[in-house]
Amino acid sequence: MFDVIDSAKFGTLVEISALINSKYGDATSLLTQILESATRLTEGEASSLILVDRDTGKLRFEIALGPKGREAKRFLLNPGEGIAGWVAMHGRSLIVNDVDTDSRFYADISKSIGYPTFSILAVPMRVREETVGVIEILNKRQKKYFTQEDLDWLEVFSVQAALAIENARYLEKAQDEIHYLREKVEADKGWHSLIAQSPLILEKLELIDKVAKTDSSVLILGESGVGKELFAEQVHLCSSRAGAPFVRVNCAALPEGLLESELFGHVKGAFTDAVQNRKGRFELADHGTIFLDEVGDLPLKLQAKLLRVLQQKSFERVGSSDSVTVDVRIVAATNKDIEALVNKGEFRSDLYYRLNVLPIHVPPLRQRKEDIPALADFFLKKFSRETNKRFAGFTEAAMELMLSYSWPGNVRELENAVERAVVIAKDSRISPRDLLLGAVAVETDEYRGKSLKEALIIFKRHFICKALEDNRWNQTETAKILAIQRTYLSRLIKELDIVNSKE
Ligand SMILES: Nc1ncnc2c1ncn2[C@@H]1O[C@H](COP(=O)(O)OP(=O)(O)OP(=O)(O)O)[C@@H](O)[C@H]1O
Ligand SMILES: [Mg+2]
Repeated sequence: MFDVIDSAKFGTLVEISALINSKYGDATSLLTQILESATRLTEGEASSLILVDRDTGKLRFEIALGPKGREAKRFLLNPGEGIAGWVAMHGRSLIVNDVDTDSRFYADISKSIGYPTFSILAVPMRVREETVGVIEILNKRQKKYFTQEDLDWLEVFSVQAALAIENARYLEKAQDEIHYLREKVEADKGWHSLIAQSPLILEKLELIDKVAKTDSSVLILGESGVGKELFAEQVHLCSSRAGAPFVRVNCAALPEGLLESELFGHVKGAFTDAVQNRKGRFELADHGTIFLDEVGDLPLKLQAKLLRVLQQKSFERVGSSDSVTVDVRIVAATNKDIEALVNKGEFRSDLYYRLNVLPIHVPPLRQRKEDIPALADFFLKKFSRETNKRFAGFTEAAMELMLSYSWPGNVRELENAVERAVVIAKDSRISPRDLLLGAVAVETDEYRGKSLKEALIIFKRHFICKALEDNRWNQTETAKILAIQRTYLSRLIKELDIVNSKE
């Protein structure tokens, strides 16, 4: 290939090969080093390492060296565009020593960044059979011409760069896999991964850590879908009971009779189906934690029995008069206004005070928007994996939409929106129209079975509420946007019972 083996060039090559096998984790600095060496050895003034986007075929300046490198990085080339585009598309190298006479040359970038280009050397980078990018060297120094030997050397460097890229991709995949396996192990044990970014939630987690160390009952409050169950898990996991069972019971899922025997167990013959003695959930949770979800729905009779467990740590199985004693920590949760239930006499006040020793309020998602990007990414990864699809993330507009939306269904709604988007989306990034925000929830749940008049009222309430939110609840501004009188708007707000939930 080379007439005379140039020892300086050869030395550089050996150095790079060594780096490729040691600097595995930092692909960008390795590629920068490769590009710097290639530029120096081919006597170029500037250079770029351009990558082809796997989904769109567009070319992106991953690394750009030289006086205007930073400006060049802003550009995206369409497939086939410019010398780099041609090289990527045909998988062949090019020497162009006078760009003005080559119709493939795309002068816009050079002009717009104010960097005149005379000559170009461009070679493809290949990983297996796929062209993953292009290395381009610009302007041979002292206005000389690039030679075939420069091209041969650059091709050798491009093989090295491609190797570095392949390694980086492999590493990324391996890290993803490890992350996934760790989550899977947790999920198999029944634990959910809790994503927390916002100061509000991080504070709550600190509080939980302290609360967990005590043995008091904990009551977790918050709107539907905020993640109360995950917080209950954390109470257990941060406590000294973490090695013992965490037993979940949904108090709203069973009728009173069955729920009683589910919680406290029964003895043979206690009722028709009780063919043998059976332990209840409280006994199964001995030394551990019992999670009473939807505790606001616990029937009054069982509330009395629960109160006794709290006071004396003992109870009787259904159909037996023998007391069973257990050591169980109680964590309860509800999305109902439990004080209102107490006032109506539907929830025992003595039980409420006992449970409410350490209340934890989980704030709605709209009050902790910092969690939205991390949660959205987490769900995107989760559902992409489940459906075997690949996504590069969300478009900026989609992220903006998610950040401005009010999420009445909280994290659960976000999770469902991303799951739906993963199924619908056709592009590599999730866009606003894939998310179908608001529309689905409103149509399916709120409008069903309503008269036209009632549906219109619901629509008006949503529409006005959204407009008010968009205008920071400034009524004058909102009235202008809606093209109605301000006085009419304030009447509508009263009639439709619209309230600013953030106040
Ligand atoms: N911080 C979080 N990180 C990851 N996933 C979350 C988080 N918060 C909530 N989720 C997910 O959102 C969904 C709803 O959470 P969860 O079931 O705990 O809500 P909830 O507060 O118990 O609601 P409900 O009152 O309706 O029972 C679950 O699938 C849960 O895994
Ligand atoms: Mg729940």
